[in-house]
Amino acid sequence: KHRHGLLAADLSTCHRSLTNADVPVYCCPPKRESDEPVYDFQFSNPTEPKRIRRPAYLMDEDYIAKYEKAIKIMKQFPYEDPLNFMRQADMHCIYCNGAYNQLNSSYWYKIHRSWLFFPWHRIHVYFHERIVGKLLGDDTFAVPYWNWDHPDGMVIPEFYTRGAYVDKDRDRAHLPPEIVDDSFDYVEKGLGPEEQIASNLAFMYTQMVSGAKKTELFMGCKRFPGEEGDCDGPGTIELAPHNALHAWVGSGLQPERENMGAFYSAARDPIFYAHHANIDRLWTVWKLKRFKGHEPEFVDTVWLDSYFYFHDENRRLVRIKIRDCLDIEKLNYGYEEVELPWLNARP
Ligand code: C2O
Repeated sequence: KHRHGLLAADLSTCHRSLTNADVPVYCCPPKRESDEPVYDFQFSNPTEPKRIRRPAYLMDEDYIAKYEKAIKIMKQFPYEDPLNFMRQADMHCIYCNGAYNQLNSSYWYKIHRSWLFFPWHRIHVYFHERIVGKLLGDDTFAVPYWNWDHPDGMVIPEFYTRGAYVDKDRDRAHLPPEIVDDSFDYVEKGLGPEEQIASNLAFMYTQMVSGAKKTELFMGCKRFPGEEGDCDGPGTIELAPHNALHAWVGSGLQPERENMGAFYSAARDPIFYAHHANIDRLWTVWKLKRFKGHEPEFVDTVWLDSYFYFHDENRRLVRIKIRDCLDIEKLNYGYEEVELPWLNARP
């Protein structure tokens, strides 16, 4: 068995891939990334202030205007620039739909439905945050998180319906004040607000607590390099609310509920980053409960030494190992704590 290799993308192989509905899609970078110099990831200078992520619904107009300005700047960069907004969105398309082959394999490298899910998305948001901070000249900038696991956060945060935060391809029936359905399965449940909130909290309890007692149930299956390792087992939270809310936000008038509803287009909607900041936060909440802090979720070196590529805020192509993705203290950001009402919502 191929349990000793590493899982990584082969940057020389970018090719057309397939959407969730098997429609061909092409989202490769304009120039081959394998021609760029690669830098090993380094933690930022410890004198840098820690970035504190706060719930989206608490953001004030100053913050909203600043982040919007950065989004506009990113949208104006040419597509050749890795900091261009669409290029960042296409990173998700590349890694979600399998535009690269796995290293030493003809298998398509994909980061969903396995133990790659949480760390890859953490670093995608991490660099988005640092890019925004850099463009604003603000090294304290932190992305907002959409805390849809709390009744206060169970609607699309209002500012995402304004200005550069708008994505026209969203389900109109799900704009505020509609309460999210965190187990949405393409069918409207037709619950009233109170019932929907109760249903959301009970579902959160299942996904975070009763259904997530083993590491693989929460983190996703252990995917190994090569054919033996093509596991397909998303963790509880990845399956829903994560996938469910992607579909819930996207437009019912689009074939794959684009933009948020399909991997290739999801990160074109600015709310993607707030959604994933909450996913990332829930990972830290689960980890604290299960491991009381800093032990790694898995000790398999194939996981710890596998790595991702991203462009950093200085446009350098960086290689980061999963072992360096596991401690947000070291990554120098944190989450403002909010109540976890689902902890007491055992169905
Ligand atoms: Cu790569 Cu929210 O999905």
